Amino acid sequence: MAITTCIFDAYGTLFDVAAAARIAADEPGREAFSACWPMIAEHWRAKQLQYTWHRTITHDYVSFWEVTEHALDWALEAEGMDNDPALRARLLQLYRELQAYVEVPATLRTLKDAGLTTAILSNGSLDMLNTAVQSAGVGDLLDDVLSVDGLRRFKPARAVYDLVGQRFSCPPDEVLFVSSNGWDAAGAAGYGFHTVWINRAGAPMDRLPASPGHVLTDLNGVAELTRTI
Ligand code: LAC
Repeated sequence: MAITTCIFDAYGTLFDVAAAARIAADEPGREAFSACWPMIAEHWRAKQLQYTWHRTITHDYVSFWEVTEHALDWALEAEGMDNDPALRARLLQLYRELQAYVEVPATLRTLKDAGLTTAILSNGSLDMLNTAVQSAGVGDLLDDVLSVDGLRRFKPARAVYDLVGQRFSCPPDEVLFVSSNGWDAAGAAGYGFHTVWINRAGAPMDRLPASPGHVLTDLNGVAELTRTI
């Protein structure tokens, strides 16, 4: 069946999750942070994801924003940078207004011009997603922003992927799901969506029960893919 609906993961896929630490590291007076920001960014993301899985499995949900704060606190402490409240506040502020990858607006525009439905499906809380969408200026190019917040479970729980069909009344085989997270693309593939993994870092394929049907190095090529599937 032809693709009618293109669904995007948010963090890491549309929004550059490393941008918050990278920008803060360039600011005056942040020499100590500059020396260790890549490790903090990596730990921040890894802990954030681990905590989502833990909280889903243990049925102890808190919002993605709280998980993001907890993960940052771990990452700052791991690098001995947990004694700078202004740095913590700045990183969180930057995370709220994350930069979109450069090819995001044109990709969404091409999909909309082709008449496809476009939306975000994300672990993010609705307020943080809406802030990021606004600061990236892509609100007009999305039909909706779907958050796990109402479900109180994180990806890759199947109930999260159910939100797409519930919102847009489309069968899974009309959906192209786009994610830079290999485990998310794998979860969506197992669910029955067409999937493309945006493998910006050239990482190996995850060893999980299902694999994404397509791999691209960035979002350029997504619109073409919707025409050829
Ligand atoms: C999201 C995370 C997984 O946006 O990147 O759902």
